[in-house]
Amino acid sequence: MVGQVFPVTIEKLVMGGDGLAHVPDGRVLFVPFSLPEERLKVRIVQQKKDYVVGTVEDILEPSPNRVQPHCPHYGVCGGCSLQHVSYECEIGLKGAFLAEILTRQAKVEIEPEAVYPCAQEWGYRTKSEHPVAPHEPAPFIGYYRRRTHKVIDINQCPVLAPSSLEDIAKLRKIHGSSGESCYNERAGKGNLRHVILRRSGQGKRLIGLVTRTGELAGETLKGLLEEFTDLAGIVHNVNTEPGNRILGGRTEVVSGAGHLTEEIGGLKLRVSFTSFFQANHAQAERIVALVAEFLQPESGDVICDAYAGVGMIGLGLARDVKEVVAIESASSSVQDGIYNAEINNLDNVRWIGGDASAVLREVEYNTIVLDPPRKGLTEGVISAVVDARPHRICYVSCNPSTWARDITSLKGMGYGLKRLAWLDMFPKTAHMELVSLLEIT
Ligand SMILES: C[S@@+](CC[C@H](N)C(=O)[O-])C[C@H]1O[C@@H](n2cnc3c(N)ncnc32)[C@H](O)[C@@H]1O
Repeated sequence: MVGQVFPVTIEKLVMGGDGLAHVPDGRVLFVPFSLPEERLKVRIVQQKKDYVVGTVEDILEPSPNRVQPHCPHYGVCGGCSLQHVSYECEIGLKGAFLAEILTRQAKVEIEPEAVYPCAQEWGYRTKSEHPVAPHEPAPFIGYYRRRTHKVIDINQCPVLAPSSLEDIAKLRKIHGSSGESCYNERAGKGNLRHVILRRSGQGKRLIGLVTRTGELAGETLKGLLEEFTDLAGIVHNVNTEPGNRILGGRTEVVSGAGHLTEEIGGLKLRVSFTSFFQANHAQAERIVALVAEFLQPESGDVICDAYAGVGMIGLGLARDVKEVVAIESASSSVQDGIYNAEINNLDNVRWIGGDASAVLREVEYNTIVLDPPRKGLTEGVISAVVDARPHRICYVSCNPSTWARDITSLKGMGYGLKRLAWLDMFPKTAHMELVSLLEIT
């Protein structure tokens, strides 16, 4: 079937952003970069037992919601998947993804009480990670080509601030002339692996270079110091291991500071280069506000902030409650969190470094905030939480599928979903962020 071309009508878009249709033998067909009700000519490019994947060969009848993508790399780069649709329609499509997850997967009857599109449709992203590959006369610094590990060079990326593209152009120039070798992933040779750009909500910038060896060429260092005079800092991280992990274990400050300072929810937060921070500042503010609104913290509460990061959520809540116990596995985040509690004059926050599933067994609390990575909660975390019997659970999620799985488990153990809102952290991608409240039933 691979190579065959069919006319199809897209029935709907599914979580992840692909269009869904059916091929004549009844199998499900996934078509990236399509829209509901479009009539398309589709070429089959991949065949599996239960489904096939196709690419758009021709648009026979376009959706009225189809728009011209802003980015010349759209469709090639692995980043965005919803640039071909108006923003209004994008929000509607994401709402439909969530509605399907709520009824089919989570099996709960609840409508999100609020939806927060991103006020800044473009240029919102404050952190980006760019793989590097050897190329003459200057290296490729960009993104991975869609569904591959082949690096494409980029000269535009409209979801980043224009300053990020200027920084990438400068780095390309520096590395083109410094003699620094660039990493060849297949051969496991070459030095420069990734460029990481971070920007605070207040516009301060931090640049990180990840290398395979512990050294940066002298000419690279010279070029960095000459070209970048307006940064908060430049950081060098060493990752000697092959594989997908971007950061290695050793980080040194090349110049300036190794962190940014964020101002959010009335707090000042130090965020070190290796610490997690939300990549959309305005929507991060919204998460902090929503968690407080859902939890309605009271002076007697002891709140556990599991997956605490540098304290963005927990420190805000600490102002209104008896105690916050913050659990976080990354040591740089724990160090930032301890420092952040101090500079914000909060002496009722206890930080515990470690894996949430183990630490949660050691602490007592009546309310918990859970904000795990995309893979969601482990069974160990769920059982530890349920055994502690908090009255309220505020579950913040960047992955509605794992959230639905987890709230289903929690429902079976006596916790009902009471409130739900969603935010668009990453316009033009199929990602969405949920804030939810569960209460003991
Ligand atoms: C989605 S981030 C949320 C951070 C924070 N709540 C915020 O919004 O800034 C998840 C955090 O959980 C941490 N983490 C990942 N796995 C963990 C685990 N097993 N136990 C504790 N923390 C973990 C990560 O280092 C990261 O800081």
